[in-house]
Amino acid sequence: MISKINNLLSEISNISVSGQDELEAFRIKYLSKKGLINTLFDEFRTISPSEKKETGKKLNFLKQNALDKYNLLKESLQSTVNKKESDDLTRPAYPWNLGSRHPISIMRNDIISIFERIGFIVSEGPEIEDDDHVFTKLNFAPEHPARDMQDTFYISRLSPEDSSPDDILLRTHTSSVQVRVMQATKPPIRTISPGRVFRNEAISARAHCIFHQVEGLYIDENVSFADLRQTLLFFAREMFGKNTEIRLRPSYFPFTEPSAEMDVSCSICGGKGCNVCKYTGWLEVLGCGMVHPAVLEACDIDSDKYTGFAFGMGIERPAMLKYQVNDLRLYFENDIRFLEQFHTAL
Ligand code: DAH
Repeated sequence: MISKINNLLSEISNISVSGQDELEAFRIKYLSKKGLINTLFDEFRTISPSEKKETGKKLNFLKQNALDKYNLLKESLQSTVNKKESDDLTRPAYPWNLGSRHPISIMRNDIISIFERIGFIVSEGPEIEDDDHVFTKLNFAPEHPARDMQDTFYISRLSPEDSSPDDILLRTHTSSVQVRVMQATKPPIRTISPGRVFRNEAISARAHCIFHQVEGLYIDENVSFADLRQTLLFFAREMFGKNTEIRLRPSYFPFTEPSAEMDVSCSICGGKGCNVCKYTGWLEVLGCGMVHPAVLEACDIDSDKYTGFAFGMGIERPAMLKYQVNDLRLYFENDIRFLEQFHTAL
């Protein structure tokens, strides 16, 4: 009887099935009431008591083995059925989750496209800069507070007291790109430079240590303050609506003379006064001015022959206005729930 059991064990271990019918045939042959294994159990009753212990053990092992095999065959049959289903070529494809542009990118692209329409080209410069391009060539005095480590992130600083042209830092404004463009190309120059800037500031709802600016530069013969004003008026009306008014307030920047700050009439209340414009009717948008002759000369441009204007604006603030975002930090957190709200034509 032991040899019969062994034969069945090896027979069962070699069996494979390719369909439900064969699986059922396996069950009937080995595991049904009148199957081979039950027949052996009948035979078991007739053997001598001395053989019973070992044969009983073996017989139980065979039964369990056959049951396991049956379950295994059933499972593998099931998974090939599933696989066949997943191979169904007529099934619709999984949908792609389309992303959307970041609001800062949308705003930046809007600004670029307005200036491109009037002949400005885009130029870019490095985010890691040296003191020379960020400060010295832009006419910042050696002791200017912007050079202080409390305002600027330094990567290497040779002499904390006196600023050295070899100091390496994260640019604090995109005006550094002006210098690079002027050094590399000669007038006429008409360029805008969007990019990231870094300042050593405490992070709050209205300020961040990383933000974005767009710098503008126009240099040619006979460029006047009137050209600056008209260019900015064109920009403001394209950006904030055709009824927008601008006003220029005198200001100071080391690299421009005269310098001004530009306000636009509040697009939310139309200039009547609301809590966004703090009831003044105006919103501050950018700094600007006529490029200082010292800056032109530092970049090897003849300041007797050429004049120019420059302007610089942040991207976050106007984007906050446009999208009514009340916390600047949201722009940097990349929370999908926030970003998904800016679906637009890509
Ligand atoms: N660089 C200035 C800033 O970061 C912005 C600025 C003001 C740029 C006047 C200019 C300008 O080109 O003419 O605050």
